[in-house]
Amino acid sequence: MDKRKTYDRIARFYDLLDLPFEHRRYLPLRRALFAGVNGALLDAGVGTGRNFPFYPSGAEVVGIDLSPAMLQRATQRKDALGTAVELREMNVTQLAFDDDRFDAVIATFLFCVLDSKHQLPALKELGRVCRPRGTIHILEYAISQHPLRRFIMKIWAPWVRFAYGAAFDRNTGQYLDAAGLELVEKKFLYKDIIKLLTVRPKTP
Ligand SMILES: C[S@@+](CC[C@H](N)C(=O)[O-])C[C@H]1O[C@@H](n2cnc3c(N)ncnc32)[C@H](O)[C@@H]1O
Repeated sequence: MDKRKTYDRIARFYDLLDLPFEHRRYLPLRRALFAGVNGALLDAGVGTGRNFPFYPSGAEVVGIDLSPAMLQRATQRKDALGTAVELREMNVTQLAFDDDRFDAVIATFLFCVLDSKHQLPALKELGRVCRPRGTIHILEYAISQHPLRRFIMKIWAPWVRFAYGAAFDRNTGQYLDAAGLELVEKKFLYKDIIKLLTVRPKTP
């Protein structure tokens, strides 16, 4: 599936479609995520810039995204909020940054979108550009173990696949070792359906 086309198509509606989830679920998670990071930050799959209000003051942030239309929305938000962020069109599987460039990398709901074959290359790239002892923070969906929530997620899954090219069950954690990354912490931030993986490059 061509994710650039998918997001160029949905960019105009993205914030509107996500609005109920943004307010009920995502806002506190974004706040918590950025509370613990600073320095040179990469916001990978920056989208329309939903993370902008939570960037720590003084941080030097670069946001990258595959979709020009999503980046256009992000530029509008950057101008409206006065956010200090450099926005660049880039594929997370081929980052145009030097090794060890960032103190921390944040990817909110990017890995739900990446197909299986892109998960490992993307993780390797994030590990390459993250400095030793830096951290990579991945917020992603997981399929609930709770029968009713699981049922509802299964009903939503075809829409989520069509509209966002996303899936609830990517299980990004399975690629960490092959990508040269180690798990620092894994915890659920919203029920048992939104989880945060904190990882870092393995030290020899
Ligand atoms: C579900 S949205 C999440 C956006 C934002 N991080 C947020 O939290 O609202 C996923 C974003 O990842 C971008 N994306 C998908 N595949 C990508 C890739 N290979 N490289 C960079 N960005 C990608 C999409 O264009 C989209 O903006």
